[in-house]
Amino acid sequence: MKFFIRTCVSCFFFAVFVSSSIMAETLEEEFKIEGIISLASIKALQSELPKKLDLKIIDLDLKKTNSGWPVLRVQYNSDLITKDKIEAVIGEIEDPAGHFYKVHNGPLVANAELSEEEIQVMSVMGDVVGFSEVKNPTIDFETSVKRGEESFKKNCAKCHGLNGNGYGVVAHGFTTWPKQLWVWNGADSGADGYLFWILENGKSDMPPWGLVMSEEERWDLINYIKTIKKPEGI
Ligand code: HEC
Repeated sequence: MKFFIRTCVSCFFFAVFVSSSIMAETLEEEFKIEGIISLASIKALQSELPKKLDLKIIDLDLKKTNSGWPVLRVQYNSDLITKDKIEAVIGEIEDPAGHFYKVHNGPLVANAELSEEEIQVMSVMGDVVGFSEVKNPTIDFETSVKRGEESFKKNCAKCHGLNGNGYGVVAHGFTTWPKQLWVWNGADSGADGYLFWILENGKSDMPPWGLVMSEEERWDLINYIKTIKKPEGI
């Protein structure tokens, strides 16, 4: 009996030792992923990566990320593979549309350059030829901004990013990413004409919302855009 107890005790310590040494080798890492442009490309990455490397995908978070990039979390054994290796392999995987994924490194960069018109509206704020005719009819700004925020999440965030950084999930396939919308933070009524115009007519990959949204819905969005702040740490 004594012998049995002693064996069990040493078994127990052995088990603790083994599991703690396994734990020490198992690391968790996050990768920001560029190149996810559809549901199919999410699935492809999730199925291809574990086939090529011995690792476990914890999740691929598309929405709740600070940077706006989808975040892939993986668990791997650091004795067998390295973070660099995982990054390299991600870059070798092709999504169903023929793009390659890429790990996003480094700080966010400004997207599309400001156009002449935008620089003009921002600096003159008021008397801009062509855009100055419309007047913002909003009376209750607080309610309008709230409605605008809801509509933004539903209609715009997929391209512009939830925080307005221009890295929405869908926008990753574009040649020109939308600009960071916080450039309009606090803009006065001088910017209204331009914002109304771009929402109505669209531009390149930006759809013409005039076709599907009422004027009030578009003013709600304009009022909301002007409240978008640059996130901390970007
Ligand atoms: C399919 C993707 C897509 C969706 C959805 C979309 N946008 Fe855009 N948006 C763009 C792109 C791309 C640009 C940049 C166009 C360019 O400059 O060529 C843009 C530009 C803009 C601009 C001009 C930014 C600037 O600083 O000049 C505003 C404002 C804007 N979008 C607002 C919205 C709002 C509000 C919605 C939702 C109702 C929305 N967008 C939905 C892709 C999109």
